[in-house]
Amino acid sequence: MRYEVDFLVVGSGIAGLSFALKVAPYGKVCILTKGAADEGSTRYAQGGIAAVMYDSDSFDKHIHDTLVAGDGICDREVVEMTIREAPDRIRELVQYGVNFDRDSSGGHFDLHREGGHSEFRILHHKDNTGEEIERGLLEAARSHPNIEIKERQFAIDIITQHHLGQRVTKHTPGIECYGVYALDCDTNRIDTYLAKVTLLATGGMGNVYSTTTTPVISTGDGVAMVHRARGVLSDLEFMQFHPTSLYNPAEKPAFLITEAMRGAGAVLKDRDGREFMQKYDKRLSLAPRDIVARAIDNEMKLSGKDYLYLDARGIGKKHLIEGFPTIYAKCLSIGIDITRDMIPIRPAAHYQCGGIKVDRNGESSIKYLYAAGECSCTGLHGGNRLASNSLLEAVVYAHNAAMDAIESVKGVPFKNEVPDWNAEGMVLNEEMVLITQTKRELQEIMWNYVGIVRSDLRLQRAFDRLNLIFRETEDLYNRSVLTEPLSELRNLIACAYLIIKMARARRENVGLHYSLDLIEKKV
Ligand code: FAD
Ligand code: SIN
Repeated sequence: MRYEVDFLVVGSGIAGLSFALKVAPYGKVCILTKGAADEGSTRYAQGGIAAVMYDSDSFDKHIHDTLVAGDGICDREVVEMTIREAPDRIRELVQYGVNFDRDSSGGHFDLHREGGHSEFRILHHKDNTGEEIERGLLEAARSHPNIEIKERQFAIDIITQHHLGQRVTKHTPGIECYGVYALDCDTNRIDTYLAKVTLLATGGMGNVYSTTTTPVISTGDGVAMVHRARGVLSDLEFMQFHPTSLYNPAEKPAFLITEAMRGAGAVLKDRDGREFMQKYDKRLSLAPRDIVARAIDNEMKLSGKDYLYLDARGIGKKHLIEGFPTIYAKCLSIGIDITRDMIPIRPAAHYQCGGIKVDRNGESSIKYLYAAGECSCTGLHGGNRLASNSLLEAVVYAHNAAMDAIESVKGVPFKNEVPDWNAEGMVLNEEMVLITQTKRELQEIMWNYVGIVRSDLRLQRAFDRLNLIFRETEDLYNRSVLTEPLSELRNLIACAYLIIKMARARRENVGLHYSLDLIEKKV
């Protein structure tokens, strides 16, 4: 089938939905999403969204905290722009119908604090903020007459001059995007979506690693598509590991224990119940995430244990049950009463700071192709994202991209000469084990050799192992009918390759990139 839309959006998380709602008055919008519309990292966000809403805080402080967490390599102008725009974007979320908790007077927002923040500035909805944001935005999008949401449609590749038979390399000037090819997961048919403007809002790539807080859909599809289309990517060595995921080995994805709990007074302890963060940073359990995750990793290696503890008992029963109901219920379901027991935790891959390089307007190096949310790299996070700045970045850049796209859509024709996908000669691969086993191997390689602490040798080993996996998978791809699992596996391999390549190129320890063979960043 062939479709023509003014604005094509790939992804229905906070970034995709926010963009769609803004461009909808200016043309037909089609949102493709590979699973159910509400499935993505957005829905699982717990802590909240950071913004300076009152005079007790200041833009300068939030800017300073973001720059410090980013370890000195954020784009300062982007940081300033994003943080100053935050209150407007929050007010829009409220207008779309998103509810944030208010204080007891019902007037002001109730604010939490998380690691690296010098003030209480995290707007939240209990400990399930993402679910509330996703609900509000999805309801608004579903009721807009110009927005169509198509579930179980898996974008495979963005369409460029390459598909018109031209040779495209990363040095080709003026690469353009004409839309995407997408697999209908119910019929296995590959459709052609022609668009005047395309936004990638495909989220993160946590599933490159064996332990991750991200949902199974986070397989780096957008980044891999742009890599294949020869677009510019950046900062992929900065994979953020969240310090506190619930240790429950059989569970995938790993359940998150929000940092807001440490903001409320919970402290990290070793297996003997002793605090240890004083050995690593004067901000203790509330140091930025890269520091806390490395400290936990080190303590686990020194003791040979699989997990440590978060002790939240000091927060008090009432506050724990009322303020963190999701975590309380989850832990109770596996026999842990957080009002009485310490919570077993370990780090997990959580957030990709790098991605598709975009400018202030969210436009990528490929014309008519925008990116927003976790799949993009704006320069806001530098070497390490400050907690709760991700949802913020998504709404700010969805707005900027929408404002730009509304202009660039004017007068752009559809590229009707784009051919349909050619699947001739392909056979259905019936050996699922080739895909599931390879995915597992990949995730273990990345966890063991390209994790929180790296070394030249580990990166080399990962690269060599990955090469074999890459060749086997490309061979399978060249013979097989394309399916969602095969496409995801190829994308994960591409992302793993890019993380390793960028990690090897980074010759100093900065932010989340930490190698035993490198010196500390020169200040
Ligand atoms: P997502 O919400 O992940 O959505 C991606 C969308 O793209 C999905 O709809 C998916 O189906 C679709 N998609 C992907 N690939 C394809 C494809 N090939 N074809 C079609 N569709 C595709 N950040 C904060 O700021 N504050 C928090 O409190 C916070 N808590 C978090 C808690 C958890 C457990 C996790 C995992 C993350 C958390 N984060 C938090 C990070 C934040 O939630 C994410 O970075 C953010 O939600 C990403 O939004 P997004 O719109 O970019 O992507
Ligand atoms: C958390 O709630 O700890 C996650 C916040 C984030 O990832 O920004």
